[in-house]
Amino acid sequence: MTEKRKIIIDTDPGQDDAAAIFLAFGSPDEIDLLGITTVAGNVPLSYTSRNALILCELCNRPSVKVFAGADRPLKRPLVTAEHVHGKTGLDGPVLEEPKLELQKQHAVDFIIETLRNEPAGTVTLCTLGPLTNIATALTRAPDIAPRVRELVMMGGGFFEGGNITPAAEFNIYVDPEAAKIVFGAGIPMVMMPLDVTHQLLTRKDRVARMRAIGSPPAIAMVEMLEFFERFDVEKYGSDGGPLHDPTVIAYLLKPSLFSGRLCNVEIETGSELTAGMTVVDWWHVTDRKRNVQVMRHVDADGFFDLLIERFARI
Ligand code: BDR
Ligand code: CA
Repeated sequence: MTEKRKIIIDTDPGQDDAAAIFLAFGSPDEIDLLGITTVAGNVPLSYTSRNALILCELCNRPSVKVFAGADRPLKRPLVTAEHVHGKTGLDGPVLEEPKLELQKQHAVDFIIETLRNEPAGTVTLCTLGPLTNIATALTRAPDIAPRVRELVMMGGGFFEGGNITPAAEFNIYVDPEAAKIVFGAGIPMVMMPLDVTHQLLTRKDRVARMRAIGSPPAIAMVEMLEFFERFDVEKYGSDGGPLHDPTVIAYLLKPSLFSGRLCNVEIETGSELTAGMTVVDWWHVTDRKRNVQVMRHVDADGFFDLLIERFARI
């Protein structure tokens, strides 16, 4: 058996974050989840932290450690997305308040400590929300950057444009200053932009396959996705909405599902019009450092087969 991949999931759940966390829970042979760190994003931190605990409880994973992190971006007021995710971030199913409790340690301290204690080059950071926690950790402890094996993130968009402004994707838009720090840290990075996630529609036939699993987590996931997709179905007129965050975990499990290119990516922080834009040098028209593996295409059927197979194992 190949060695399990040690990961930290940094997240702002979010129904699609929940799908990513479920995918990790359903893949214990490949993934060693060291902890979940929460950040303010889709909804305020009190909800994202509560939601992470609810997801652990729903999937009967009481030993997973959840650490609360930043409650606001580095320099800007928090922008949230209740219009997409609902008031709690996990609107859809009826969910009980969690009995599990948060760890006492701050998420940023947990990230720093873990990267210092684990052997260098063994921990992968999986980011599903604004990059505030990771940027804070890198600023406070620059020695951790070369110790990160890889940072796999959902964020950005280029050919598809943005989803919160014409130019910017939500996770980057919320905290562009944090993104700038992370993209400039010299860490090997893989980016799952809207260009990929917009190919992954929660079509009715796919959701029906999830429902057929029949377990409480699978049913809750279906109810979450049915709530989550309504906004994008109206916006794009598609059969289902795009599923963003599970791409990060799917990449760890089956990288061959994705294809892309190593490019330079810079983050716009100055302009009001394009703040949070991921400027991707896809055609290599500059000689700026190629710092990010930018994904562009995905095998959508293969992705949903993997997702459904793993949801069934929870
Ligand atoms: C990203 O923003 C959030 O709304 C989703 O959870 C995802 O991480 C998509 O732009
Ligand atoms: Ca998210």
